[in-house]
Amino acid sequence: MASMDEAIEKAAVHLAGAARVAVLSGAGISSESGIPTFRGAGGLWEQHRAEDLATPAAFSRDPELVWRWYDWRRGLCAKANPNAAHVIVAAIEKAVPEFLLVTQNVDGLHRRAGSAAMIELHGSIWRGRCTACAHRFDLTVVPLPTLPPLCPLCGGPARPDVVWFGESYDPLLLDNSQRFLKESDVLLVVGTSGMVSVPVYLAEAAAGAGTVVINVNPEASPISRFAAVEIPGRAGAVLPQLWQRACER
Ligand code: OAD
Repeated sequence: MASMDEAIEKAAVHLAGAARVAVLSGAGISSESGIPTFRGAGGLWEQHRAEDLATPAAFSRDPELVWRWYDWRRGLCAKANPNAAHVIVAAIEKAVPEFLLVTQNVDGLHRRAGSAAMIELHGSIWRGRCTACAHRFDLTVVPLPTLPPLCPLCGGPARPDVVWFGESYDPLLLDNSQRFLKESDVLLVVGTSGMVSVPVYLAEAAAGAGTVVINVNPEASPISRFAAVEIPGRAGAVLPQLWQRACER
C-alpha cells in the first residue's frame, strides 16, 4: 500500500495539471470544525432516528420536534468556523479556470469560507421553505423565535429547506452536478461515507467518464472502489498539504 506521503504526491500531480476541477464534500469535511458527522462513533444517527427527524412523515407528525432538532444543529453550525479544508476548497476555486463544488452539507461552512461556485445538493439549514406556497427564504436568526417559522409572503408554516430521506433531489441541480463532474479532469471527494447512493453514483459516473477521482477519508468507503488515489487522512491536514504540493509543481 502506498504511504500517505506517496498518495498526496500522486494526487498533487493530477491536481497540478487539471484545468477543470470538481469537489464533492460530505459531513467529514466539517468534523474538524466541531460539527458531528451522521454515521460512525458520535455521529448524529447514533443518538437520533432519521425516521423521527429527517423525513416528510416525521415533519407532518411533529413539525415542532423536527424544527427543535434543526434549530439545535443551526446553533452548532453558528458557533463553528470553517476549517483549513473549507479554506483550501475555496482557494482551489479561485486558482483553477473551471471549478464546481457539490456538497451534501447543509451547514453553510463552505460559503463562509468563500466558496461561490457551489451546488448544495441536500439544501441548507439556513433557509426555510413554505409548506403552503413553496417560497424559499433565508433564516439567519439562531435560535428561531417561533417554531415552525412562518413564511414572510403568505404566513404559512415553513419546513427546513433540506432534502429528507424518501425525497427526490432537484433534477436540475443533479443534472448540472453530473455534467460538470463527468467533464472534469479531477474530482476531489472529501469526507463522505458513501452511504447515500446519489453522491456515490455521481462520483462513479465521473470516474467512468475518465475523471480522476481522489478520495480523502480516514476510512475506506464505497468511493474507494473506483478512486484513482486514496488518501487515508483527515481533510484539515491533507488538503493544505495537497494544495501546497500542487501549487509548487
Ligand atoms: P457521514 O456521516 O455518513 O460520513 C462522514 C464521513 O466522513 C465518514 O466516511 C468518515 O470516515 C469521514 N470523516 C470523518 N472525519 C473526517 C475528516 N476529518 N476528514 C475527512 N473525512 C472524515 O456523512 P455524509 O457522507 O456526508 O443526509 O452523509 C451523507 C448524507 O447522509 C448527509 O448529507 C445526510 C446523512 O443522512 C440527509 O440528512 C438527507
